[in-house]
Amino acid sequence: MKIFIINGPNLDMLGKREPEIYGHDTLDSINTELAEYCKTVGVTPEFFQSNSEGALIDFIHSARGNADAIVINAGAYTHYSIAIRDAIAAVELPCVEVHLSNVHKREEFRHKSVISAVCTGVICGFGKNVYKLAVEALIASK
Ligand code: DQA
Repeated sequence: MKIFIINGPNLDMLGKREPEIYGHDTLDSINTELAEYCKTVGVTPEFFQSNSEGALIDFIHSARGNADAIVINAGAYTHYSIAIRDAIAAVELPCVEVHLSNVHKREEFRHKSVISAVCTGVICGFGKNVYKLAVEALIASK
């Protein structure tokens, strides 16, 4: 099973960015840990991060025919990018929306996700473990 693990804007700043909300781990260390977990369950992950909406959309499109599922933390684009929502819908793959923080405990503008409706499920609030939980959920619902 091949899974694209996609991170959007500002997630390249993990470790430095608001650590009281997002933790002290860098995206590289989270990805390394996740790759180790994936090995133990026979999943091949492919990691991608971009701060740009167009690059994220291009990468989501490339999942068609190249991946079995997607895990995406779209960062702030979650709350307003109809273009990312349409890209997820277009590839017709199982997709898990994740957020490190519990967005529902935070500012009201973070309560709304425009991508949830085209995702298989949503996991938020468990810090870096959300990525692993999403992979586990995809395996369990294969
Ligand atoms: C986030 C939550 C978003 O509201 C925020 O814009 C992010 C990170 C999270 O992982 O908790 O960039 O997606």
